[in-house]
Amino acid sequence: MDGGPDAMNGIERLLRGGELTVEGRLTEASNATLYCRVELDGASVACVYKPVAGERPLHDFPDGTLAARELAAYAVSEAAGWRIVPCTIERDGPFGRGMVQQWIEDTDLSGAVTVLKDLRSQDAEDWCPVLAVQLSDGSDAVLAHRDGPALRRIALFDVVVNNADRKGGHLLPLADGTVLGIDHGLTFHAEDKLRTLLWGFADRELEPVERAELEKLRDDEQLAGRLAELLTRAELAAFRERIEELLAVGALPGPDGRMRPVPWPPV
Ligand SMILES: Nc1ncnc2c1ncn2[C@@H]1O[C@H](COP(=O)(O)OP(=O)(O)O)[C@@H](O)[C@H]1O
Ligand SMILES: [Mg+2]
Repeated sequence: MDGGPDAMNGIERLLRGGELTVEGRLTEASNATLYCRVELDGASVACVYKPVAGERPLHDFPDGTLAARELAAYAVSEAAGWRIVPCTIERDGPFGRGMVQQWIEDTDLSGAVTVLKDLRSQDAEDWCPVLAVQLSDGSDAVLAHRDGPALRRIALFDVVVNNADRKGGHLLPLADGTVLGIDHGLTFHAEDKLRTLLWGFADRELEPVERAELEKLRDDEQLAGRLAELLTRAELAAFRERIEELLAVGALPGPDGRMRPVPWPPV
C-alpha cells in the first residue's frame, strides 16, 4: 500500500501494533538501547527500542528528548525522499514510551569505512581520507570513508539535521550499495554541533537534485507540523536556517574552524 500520506507499510504496521518482546540489551554504558522483536498475526520483525526513561542525561541536550530527535530525523529522511533512516515510530513498551526502529540485518561496515595504509595505492581510489590513525603495530594509516552518492546523501542529511554523532558504526551499508544511517538522538540542537566522519564531501558544490531536495524540505508544511510536535521552536527555526544557509552557500560545509569535527571514537 502506498500513495496517501496516511498509508502505512507492513513494517510500520508491525512496529506500531505488534507485541513487543525485549530480547537483549545493545549497549552497556550509554542509553538503554534494547534489541527487541515485535509480533503481529504470525508475522514478526526485529527492532531497536529506546525507552525515553532509559536515556542517559547529557550536558548539552535536554533530558528526555533523544527519542523525539530520532523521530524527527526519520521524518526529515522520509520527507526528502532520502530513505536513510530505517522505519522509526513512537510507542509504548515494557519500559514506557520510546522510539522503536526496524532492525537492519546483513550490513557490512567495510562498504562504508576503511583504513588505508597507502594513499597512492589503487585501493585508495573511491575513498575519502579523513583522519590519521596509528595501527596496533605502530604504523601510520588513514581512516577513510567511501566516496559516492550513498554516503554523500547521508552527509547532506547530517548537515540538515545537525548530527552531532555520525560515527562510522552508525552507517549501515547494504549489499545493493545503499547505505542507511542510525542513532540520531544527538540531532537538531539549535547550535551548530555537526560532528561526523563524512568530511570527504566538504566544499563539494550542491547538485541540482540536492537543491531541489532542500527546497522541498524547506517548503514542506506537513513536515514542519510534525517537527513542531517533536522539537522546540528554536530548534525548528535553526533547522530552517541550516537549509537556507546550505542553499545560499551552495556547497557542503567543511571541518575547518570547528572545535571537535570528528566524533570519538570515530567508528
Ligand atoms: N536499526 C538498526 N539496525 C541494525 N543495527 C542497529 C540498529 N540500531 C542500532 N543498531 C546497532 O546497535 C548499536 C547501538 O545502537 P545505537 O543506536 O548506536 O544506540 P545508542 O543510542 O545507545 O548509542 C549500533 O551501533 C548498531 O550496531
Ligand atoms: Mg550509538
